[in-house]
Amino acid sequence: MTNSTTLCDIGFIGLGVMGKNITLNLADNGYKIACFDLDQEKIDGIIEQDSLERGELEPRVIACRSYTELLSKLKAPHLIILSVPAGKPVDHVCHLLIDAGIQPDDIVVDTGNSLWTDSVERESQYKGKFIFFSTAVSGGEVGARFGPSLMPSGDPYAWTRIEPVMKAIAAKVDPATGLPIESFEPGNPIKHGEPCATYIGPSGSGHYVKMVHNGIEYADMQLICEAYQIMRESLEMEPVEIASIFREWNKGKLNSYLIEISAEVLEQTDAATGKPLVDVIMDKAGQKGTGLWTAVSALQVGSPAQTIAQAVFARSISSLKDERIKASKMLSGPEVVKLSEEQKQQAINSLHDALYCSKICAYAQGFQLMSIASQEQGWTLDFAEIAKIWRAGCIIRAVFLQSITNAYEQDEKLDNLLLDPFFAKQIAELQFNWRRAIADATLQGIPCAAMSSALNYYDSYRAETLPANLLQGQRDYFGAHTYQRVDKPAKTKFHTEWSKAGRPEVKIKK
Ligand code: 6PG
Repeated sequence: MTNSTTLCDIGFIGLGVMGKNITLNLADNGYKIACFDLDQEKIDGIIEQDSLERGELEPRVIACRSYTELLSKLKAPHLIILSVPAGKPVDHVCHLLIDAGIQPDDIVVDTGNSLWTDSVERESQYKGKFIFFSTAVSGGEVGARFGPSLMPSGDPYAWTRIEPVMKAIAAKVDPATGLPIESFEPGNPIKHGEPCATYIGPSGSGHYVKMVHNGIEYADMQLICEAYQIMRESLEMEPVEIASIFREWNKGKLNSYLIEISAEVLEQTDAATGKPLVDVIMDKAGQKGTGLWTAVSALQVGSPAQTIAQAVFARSISSLKDERIKASKMLSGPEVVKLSEEQKQQAINSLHDALYCSKICAYAQGFQLMSIASQEQGWTLDFAEIAKIWRAGCIIRAVFLQSITNAYEQDEKLDNLLLDPFFAKQIAELQFNWRRAIADATLQGIPCAAMSSALNYYDSYRAETLPANLLQGQRDYFGAHTYQRVDKPAKTKFHTEWSKAGRPEVKIKK
């Protein structure tokens, strides 16, 4: 047994919802923690919770009143984990740690939702003062407490030192089934299974992968919301009926954490009004920015990620509530047609397939984006490993992630998930229903921007010819931007004198 004067294994700074739970998770795994937060109530809260969970046993969490005290309570070389808001607060804490005497071989791990380029800068900015390392965390508060998915990146030497810690606290997957091993019992962490923590690569790469995870999360959530709206408005179903459809879907290929919680949200009744809670929640979506960062990055590197971008735009248009109220009174749309029971059942089946196919496209876009970014940054990301660590603990965990793991294990150079034989076959079999669900919603005037964008991604990706030939002609017409010809080498550029009689073609040597 440890005694109270034993030095702590880890320092933890930032005891918000995520920080507190990661601290308790570390403690459950046998690490003694010295913790600090600017808010005394948060420190008192975790000490109280630790003593409640420990009873008579030795406390596992020690409160510190300053950064100097925190460093003095730790074994050297020090390992300090930060869970503070992304952006300036991370650097603020890093500077205070420097003032408190942190040493060059000490490690500081940032677990917030930091912008990946900030992580790259921080690694070099703090070199020589301490080792700055990043570990992006997904899983919300329950994940943090009982096993999140972790995306660590940075100095490989630092990783060798912290790997056992990260693998201990991470979510675990049963290797035989690919399914999460779940336990929500304080003090009784899961010790077996494959940990959802793998070294992603050089600094910035882990937070990039987490950013794309969140972009996919936005798309996944929006797709489920569109299926909900179609059932609500076109099929005139009540929230509890939709919840039971989601529960049914959760038994099959759509099985995922997000479908499960959507059913739970729809089953809730508002205590004050007796109405379904979803009906009293204002339909204005918030966002902290990670989905937006993903869409921006996709635009910057030229990777088509329209379903992720649509999911961000869907949040933007939702927030224009006042304008939408005004527009709803002025702008017309088609009447919603009443369906027979048989048509309704068919529509539900179509929606199931539409959701599944759209989801495949959203993930395909996310993986394609990571692949392009990986080439640009020279990261050599391992997509089978990334899919594996998303099978449990994180917000987008789903049965389907095992199929993605299989796809990249079979072909690590797969250009696009859509080209994997399993996924290609799935879409071939289900696409009629996908198209029908979108066509029906469109004819009824019910928006389904993410689903339609996914179908457009699929149809564009499989099209041998796109109208970009006309577009190149337009560009060359007004801007002499030149074009390539299908019958000449790609490096030769051509320009046409569009306004001259006979429109002569001019070859431009490169
Ligand atoms: C996770 C979540 C988590 C969080 C984000 C997104 O993986 O645990 O993605 O990071 O939910 O803050 O939240 P927004 O919807 O507010 O952007």
